[in-house]
Amino acid sequence: MSRRKLAHYEFSAKASNVIEPTKPLYKTIKGKWNELYFKNDNPIVVELACGKGEYTVGLGKVFPERNFIGMDIKGDRIARGSLAASEGNLTNVAFLRAGIQYSDEFFKEKELSEIWLIHPDPQVRDRDENKRLTNPKFLEMYARFLKTKGMFLLKTDSSFLYEYSLVTLGESPHFEIVEHTDDLYNSPLLDEHHGVKTHYEKIFVAKGYSIKYIKAKLK
Ligand SMILES: C[S@@+](CC[C@H](N)C(=O)[O-])C[C@H]1O[C@@H](n2cnc3c(N)ncnc32)[C@H](O)[C@@H]1O
Repeated sequence: MSRRKLAHYEFSAKASNVIEPTKPLYKTIKGKWNELYFKNDNPIVVELACGKGEYTVGLGKVFPERNFIGMDIKGDRIARGSLAASEGNLTNVAFLRAGIQYSDEFFKEKELSEIWLIHPDPQVRDRDENKRLTNPKFLEMYARFLKTKGMFLLKTDSSFLYEYSLVTLGESPHFEIVEHTDDLYNSPLLDEHHGVKTHYEKIFVAKGYSIKYIKAKLK
Protein backbone atom coordinates (compact mmCIF):
# COMPACT_ATOMS: atom_id res chain seq x y z
CA MET A 1 0.00 0.00 0.00
CA SER A 2 1.29 3.47 -0.87
CA ARG A 3 2.21 5.87 1.94
CA ARG A 4 -0.62 8.20 0.87
CA LYS A 5 -3.21 5.41 1.02
CA LEU A 6 -1.89 4.29 4.40
CA ALA A 7 -2.22 7.86 5.74
CA HIS A 8 -5.83 7.92 4.55
CA TYR A 9 -6.58 4.61 6.27
CA GLU A 10 -5.02 5.90 9.49
CA PHE A 11 -7.10 9.07 9.19
CA SER A 12 -10.34 7.06 8.82
CA ALA A 13 -9.47 4.88 11.81
CA LYS A 14 -9.48 8.01 13.98
CA ALA A 15 -12.32 9.87 12.25
CA SER A 16 -15.59 9.73 14.18
CA ASN A 17 -17.62 10.16 10.97
CA VAL A 18 -16.30 6.93 9.41
CA ILE A 19 -17.98 3.67 10.41
CA GLU A 20 -15.66 0.80 9.50
CA PRO A 21 -14.89 -2.72 10.72
CA THR A 22 -12.68 -1.62 13.62
CA LYS A 23 -15.36 0.65 15.13
CA PRO A 24 -18.01 -0.55 17.64
CA LEU A 25 -20.87 1.09 15.66
CA TYR A 26 -20.05 -1.13 12.67
CA LYS A 27 -21.78 -4.05 14.40
CA THR A 28 -24.65 -2.14 16.02
CA ILE A 29 -25.69 0.59 13.59
CA LYS A 30 -28.25 -1.40 11.56
CA GLY A 31 -31.64 0.26 11.98
CA LYS A 32 -30.17 2.78 14.41
CA TRP A 33 -28.40 5.39 12.28
CA ASN A 34 -30.61 8.17 13.58
CA GLU A 35 -30.59 7.01 17.19
CA LEU A 36 -26.89 6.15 17.57
CA TYR A 37 -25.15 8.35 15.03
CA PHE A 38 -27.16 11.38 13.85
CA LYS A 39 -29.21 11.76 17.06
CA ASN A 40 -32.23 13.19 15.26
CA ASP A 41 -35.22 11.93 13.25
CA ASN A 42 -34.26 13.45 9.92
CA PRO A 43 -34.60 11.50 6.67
CA ILE A 44 -31.58 9.44 5.66
CA VAL A 45 -30.01 9.54 2.19
CA VAL A 46 -27.36 7.00 1.17
CA GLU A 47 -24.82 7.51 -1.62
CA LEU A 48 -23.65 4.09 -2.84
CA ALA A 49 -20.20 3.66 -4.42
CA CYS A 50 -19.50 7.15 -3.08
CA GLY A 51 -15.76 7.20 -3.83
CA LYS A 52 -14.53 10.48 -2.39
CA GLY A 53 -18.05 11.32 -1.26
CA GLU A 54 -18.73 14.39 -3.36
CA TYR A 55 -22.51 13.86 -3.26
CA THR A 56 -22.61 13.00 0.43
CA VAL A 57 -20.68 16.15 1.33
CA GLY A 58 -22.18 18.38 -1.40
CA LEU A 59 -25.81 17.48 -0.68
CA GLY A 60 -25.07 17.45 3.06
CA LYS A 61 -24.22 21.14 2.81
CA VAL A 62 -27.32 21.97 0.73
CA PHE A 63 -29.72 19.98 2.95
CA PRO A 64 -28.71 20.30 6.63
CA GLU A 65 -32.12 18.90 7.61
CA ARG A 66 -31.32 15.54 5.98
CA ASN A 67 -28.76 12.93 7.05
CA PHE A 68 -26.28 11.58 4.49
CA ILE A 69 -24.27 8.37 4.47
CA GLY A 70 -21.59 7.71 1.84
CA MET A 71 -20.82 4.02 1.35
CA ASP A 72 -17.82 2.55 -0.44
CA ILE A 73 -15.44 -0.35 -0.02
CA LYS A 74 -12.32 1.78 -0.50
CA GLY A 75 -11.16 3.40 2.73
CA ASP A 76 -8.66 5.78 1.15
CA ARG A 77 -11.41 7.36 -0.98
CA ILE A 78 -13.82 7.61 1.92
CA ALA A 79 -11.13 9.36 3.96
CA ARG A 80 -11.25 12.30 1.51
CA GLY A 81 -14.99 12.70 2.06
CA SER A 82 -14.60 12.30 5.79
CA LEU A 83 -12.04 15.11 5.90
CA ALA A 84 -14.20 17.41 3.76
CA ALA A 85 -17.20 16.77 6.03
CA SER A 86 -15.14 17.48 9.16
CA GLU A 87 -13.72 20.67 7.67
CA GLY A 88 -17.26 21.79 6.82
CA ASN A 89 -18.54 20.88 10.33
CA LEU A 90 -21.17 18.67 8.71
CA THR A 91 -22.72 16.74 11.58
CA ASN A 92 -25.35 15.36 9.16
CA VAL A 93 -22.72 13.38 7.20
CA ALA A 94 -21.24 9.93 7.84
CA PHE A 95 -19.31 7.36 5.83
CA LEU A 96 -19.59 3.58 5.89
CA ARG A 97 -16.74 1.41 4.64
CA ALA A 98 -18.38 -1.81 3.50
CA GLY A 99 -19.34 -3.76 0.40
CA ILE A 100 -22.75 -2.77 -0.94
CA GLN A 101 -23.62 -6.46 -1.28
CA TYR A 102 -23.54 -6.62 2.53
CA SER A 103 -25.91 -3.67 3.01
CA ASP A 104 -28.39 -5.89 4.88
CA GLU A 105 -25.92 -5.83 7.78
CA PHE A 106 -26.17 -2.03 8.04
CA PHE A 107 -29.66 -0.90 7.07
CA LYS A 108 -33.04 -2.20 8.13
CA GLU A 109 -36.30 -2.24 6.20
CA LYS A 110 -37.68 1.23 5.47
CA GLU A 111 -34.78 3.01 7.16
CA LEU A 112 -33.86 5.17 4.14
CA SER A 113 -35.58 7.94 2.17
CA GLU A 114 -33.29 8.07 -0.87
CA ILE A 115 -30.53 5.99 -2.39
CA TRP A 116 -28.14 7.63 -4.86
CA LEU A 117 -25.87 5.51 -7.02
CA ILE A 118 -23.25 7.73 -8.63
CA HIS A 119 -21.04 6.55 -11.51
CA PRO A 120 -20.76 2.92 -10.39
CA ASP A 121 -18.51 0.59 -12.37
CA PRO A 122 -20.75 -0.54 -15.27
CA GLN A 123 -19.45 -4.14 -15.13
CA VAL A 124 -20.03 -4.62 -18.85
CA ARG A 125 -18.98 -8.27 -19.12
CA ASP A 126 -21.89 -10.72 -19.05
CA ARG A 127 -20.15 -12.79 -16.41
CA ASP A 128 -20.02 -9.73 -14.12
CA GLU A 129 -23.75 -9.03 -14.15
CA ASN A 130 -23.94 -10.27 -10.57
CA LYS A 131 -21.71 -7.30 -9.55
CA ARG A 132 -23.69 -4.73 -11.57
CA LEU A 133 -25.25 -2.52 -8.93
CA THR A 134 -28.59 -2.13 -10.73
CA ASN A 135 -29.19 -5.82 -11.36
CA PRO A 136 -32.59 -7.13 -10.18
CA LYS A 137 -31.07 -8.58 -6.99
CA PHE A 138 -29.56 -5.25 -5.91
CA LEU A 139 -32.77 -3.37 -6.82
CA GLU A 140 -34.76 -5.75 -4.66
CA MET A 141 -32.42 -5.08 -1.75
CA TYR A 142 -32.59 -1.27 -2.21
CA ALA A 143 -36.38 -1.47 -2.31
CA ARG A 144 -36.41 -3.13 1.13
CA PHE A 145 -34.41 -0.28 2.69
CA LEU A 146 -36.56 2.50 1.24
CA LYS A 147 -39.54 4.06 2.98
CA THR A 148 -42.84 4.48 1.15
CA LYS A 149 -42.33 6.92 -1.76
CA GLY A 150 -38.56 6.45 -1.38
CA MET A 151 -36.39 7.38 -4.35
CA PHE A 152 -33.58 5.58 -6.19
CA LEU A 153 -31.37 7.82 -8.33
CA LEU A 154 -28.69 6.68 -10.76
CA LYS A 155 -26.13 8.95 -12.41
CA THR A 156 -23.80 7.32 -14.89
CA ASP A 157 -21.38 8.06 -17.69
CA SER A 158 -22.01 4.61 -19.17
CA SER A 159 -24.54 4.20 -21.99
CA PHE A 160 -24.42 0.47 -21.34
CA LEU A 161 -25.36 0.82 -17.66
CA TYR A 162 -27.99 3.47 -18.45
CA GLU A 163 -29.77 1.25 -20.99
CA TYR A 164 -29.42 -1.81 -18.76
CA SER A 165 -30.84 0.06 -15.76
CA LEU A 166 -33.78 1.44 -17.75
CA VAL A 167 -34.69 -2.20 -18.41
CA THR A 168 -34.12 -3.55 -14.88
CA LEU A 169 -35.91 -0.61 -13.23
CA GLY A 170 -38.66 -0.69 -15.86
CA GLU A 171 -39.23 -4.41 -15.23
CA SER A 172 -38.84 -4.20 -11.46
CA PRO A 173 -41.94 -4.98 -9.41
CA HIS A 174 -40.65 -2.48 -6.84
CA PHE A 175 -39.73 0.66 -8.80
CA GLU A 176 -41.35 3.01 -11.25
CA ILE A 177 -39.15 5.25 -13.43
CA VAL A 178 -40.21 8.85 -12.92
CA GLU A 179 -37.81 10.67 -15.24
CA HIS A 180 -34.66 9.91 -17.17
CA THR A 181 -32.25 11.63 -19.52
CA ASP A 182 -29.24 10.57 -21.55
CA ASP A 183 -27.95 14.16 -21.54
CA LEU A 184 -28.20 15.51 -18.01
CA TYR A 185 -26.14 18.63 -18.69
CA ASN A 186 -28.76 19.79 -21.22
CA SER A 187 -31.74 18.81 -19.08
CA PRO A 188 -33.75 20.72 -16.45
CA LEU A 189 -33.01 17.74 -14.15
CA LEU A 190 -29.48 19.11 -13.75
CA ASP A 191 -30.73 21.52 -11.06
CA GLU A 192 -31.35 18.52 -8.78
CA HIS A 193 -27.60 17.93 -8.63
CA HIS A 194 -26.77 21.31 -7.10
CA GLY A 195 -23.57 21.64 -9.10
CA VAL A 196 -22.03 18.48 -7.62
CA LYS A 197 -19.63 16.70 -9.98
CA THR A 198 -17.61 13.71 -8.88
CA HIS A 199 -14.04 12.68 -9.58
CA TYR A 200 -15.04 10.06 -12.17
CA GLU A 201 -17.62 12.34 -13.72
CA LYS A 202 -15.00 14.99 -14.45
CA ILE A 203 -12.77 12.36 -16.05
CA PHE A 204 -15.53 11.05 -18.33
CA VAL A 205 -16.88 14.48 -19.25
CA ALA A 206 -13.34 15.52 -20.26
CA LYS A 207 -13.30 12.47 -22.57
CA GLY A 208 -16.53 13.68 -24.22
CA TYR A 209 -19.02 11.33 -22.56
CA SER A 210 -22.53 12.61 -21.84
CA ILE A 211 -23.92 12.09 -18.36
CA LYS A 212 -27.08 10.05 -17.91
CA TYR A 213 -29.57 10.13 -15.06
CA ILE A 214 -32.50 7.96 -13.98
CA LYS A 215 -34.97 8.82 -11.21
CA ALA A 216 -37.11 6.00 -9.92
CA LYS A 217 -39.51 5.81 -7.02
CA LEU A 218 -40.74 2.95 -4.92
CA LYS A 219 -44.12 1.72 -6.23
C1 LIG B 1 -16.06 4.40 -10.76
S1 LIG B 1 -15.88 4.65 -9.05
C2 LIG B 1 -17.01 6.03 -8.77
C3 LIG B 1 -16.72 6.75 -7.49
C4 LIG B 1 -17.54 8.03 -7.30
N1 LIG B 1 -18.94 7.74 -7.19
C5 LIG B 1 -17.29 9.00 -8.42
O1 LIG B 1 -18.20 9.23 -9.22
O2 LIG B 1 -16.17 9.54 -8.48
C6 LIG B 1 -16.78 3.30 -8.39
C7 LIG B 1 -16.70 3.18 -6.89
O3 LIG B 1 -17.50 2.09 -6.48
C8 LIG B 1 -16.85 1.42 -5.42
N2 LIG B 1 -17.40 0.06 -5.39
C9 LIG B 1 -17.42 -0.82 -6.42
N3 LIG B 1 -18.06 -1.94 -6.05
C10 LIG B 1 -18.41 -1.77 -4.75
C11 LIG B 1 -19.08 -2.58 -3.81
N4 LIG B 1 -19.53 -3.80 -4.12
N5 LIG B 1 -19.28 -2.09 -2.58
C12 LIG B 1 -18.84 -0.86 -2.23
N6 LIG B 1 -18.20 -0.05 -3.09
C13 LIG B 1 -18.00 -0.49 -4.33
C14 LIG B 1 -15.38 1.52 -5.75
O4 LIG B 1 -14.58 1.35 -4.61
C15 LIG B 1 -15.29 2.93 -6.35
O5 LIG B 1 -14.98 3.90 -5.39
